[in-house]
Amino acid sequence: MAETINVLFLAAEADPFIKVGGLGDVSSALPRAIRALPIEITGDTRLDIRLVLPMHSAVRADPLRPLTVFSLKRGESEVQVEVFESVFEGMPVYFISGDPIRSSGSVYSLKAELDAEKYVFFSLAAMELPRQINWDVDVIHANDWHTALAVYANLTKRWEEGARRVASMLTLHNLPFMGPDISELLKSYGVPLAQTDLPEWARVMPLPLGLWAADAITPVSPGYGEEVLGPEFGCGLNEFLSQRRTSLHGILNGIDMASYNPIDDDAIDTPFSLLTLEDRAPNKAVLQTRLGLPVDPNVPLLAMVTRMDVQKGVDIAIKALQSFKNMTFQVVILGTGDPVLEQAARELQAAHPENIRIETRFDAQLARQIYAGSDLFLMPSRYEPCGLSQMIAMRYGCVPLVRATGGLRDTVTPESGFLFQKANPLAMANALRKALHLFPDRKAWSKLQLAGMSKDFSWVNSARQYFDLYQALVLETKPTSPNPIRS
Ligand code: GLC
Repeated sequence: MAETINVLFLAAEADPFIKVGGLGDVSSALPRAIRALPIEITGDTRLDIRLVLPMHSAVRADPLRPLTVFSLKRGESEVQVEVFESVFEGMPVYFISGDPIRSSGSVYSLKAELDAEKYVFFSLAAMELPRQINWDVDVIHANDWHTALAVYANLTKRWEEGARRVASMLTLHNLPFMGPDISELLKSYGVPLAQTDLPEWARVMPLPLGLWAADAITPVSPGYGEEVLGPEFGCGLNEFLSQRRTSLHGILNGIDMASYNPIDDDAIDTPFSLLTLEDRAPNKAVLQTRLGLPVDPNVPLLAMVTRMDVQKGVDIAIKALQSFKNMTFQVVILGTGDPVLEQAARELQAAHPENIRIETRFDAQLARQIYAGSDLFLMPSRYEPCGLSQMIAMRYGCVPLVRATGGLRDTVTPESGFLFQKANPLAMANALRKALHLFPDRKAWSKLQLAGMSKDFSWVNSARQYFDLYQALVLETKPTSPNPIRS
């Protein structure tokens, strides 16, 4: 008999409606890839996955129509929830609005209280939405701390007499961001605080509560999934997560192989592919010209397209580059973020105006030209749950040089790039020296390029694994865990 699995996918951001970082790419691509899985994979199962997002003031959606209005009880009063509906390539997309969302200007604010107010409201409203629209949801799939509370509240719902069992999954894109103390908010929304086996400090934070309650936890790469079990990357939750090991399934993100395709990319000057690698060369010349760097195919062009963030090791890269007394290479860094790192990068350019270009802005077109035209892609991340840019770089024949961590370790091999172990400038500079030494050997270099370009980073591989997990969760007959509510 044909079975239907209904999944509600919750995220703080999703391209093209609203995008701040990698989460926005994944929340857009993954649910659509799951919807698009071919019948050879899904068999008899019909999968209806829908996306729900907060109606941040910067959200752009067309069409957009009001769907329903309901309210959540909060203390002695009620907060109104307004729901709008759109559609994206056949996928229903819901937007939730209400005072807590309207009163916060940005997607992520610097004020923890504002974010907590907004995302607690969003998570609880989104969790209630299926019932309001008479849609029998089977799996609540949340992402990161912003929506993790929906997973927790879903479990507390299951403790209610006669409640329908809805399974839950929490995808982990960034463990260090756990959200603020939400105990007061939980109290006012009437969500019970359970006696958990979380470390004491974590018992009132949305991400740990979500991890505690989730039926499945999915880090965005197998490598990161292992790393969070250890003290270096576990952020104090490593022991707790180790106990949950059997619920942990690292699934590697994909990239949009159609959009990021060097043979069919309007942003680049000369299309090329694995079969016409020689056509890549004009793109380097065009990029060097655009950046105002000397045009020379023999000078290696190093690149970063990154958030300017300590996570990404921008400071490590700057120090490693500085350590080369004799700069026989060119560098372009495109990205915005931490003003201190932006300034350090600008100082590097000031010291080497002939070799270095720092572009502190968001420029999707230039990013593509960089992937297509530069030789070496630097990603010295301190930690990297998955990382998308190294996959895009490989797709465009730009050889990655990465720290062997998380998703970088899972996607870059010595056959397709350069890896170094320690997150420090010396280790990076040593790897860089090796790469620079190999660069003049055109044959060896193109071997690296071709190995990267032949990799399949399509979403269908990940989508299939998520689908298998949904199926397992829905089939699981395990009774709901006992109600460990404190009072
Ligand atoms: C976060 C992680 C990054 C990952 C992205 C999408 O931004 O830092 O590694 O690729 O989420 O999952």
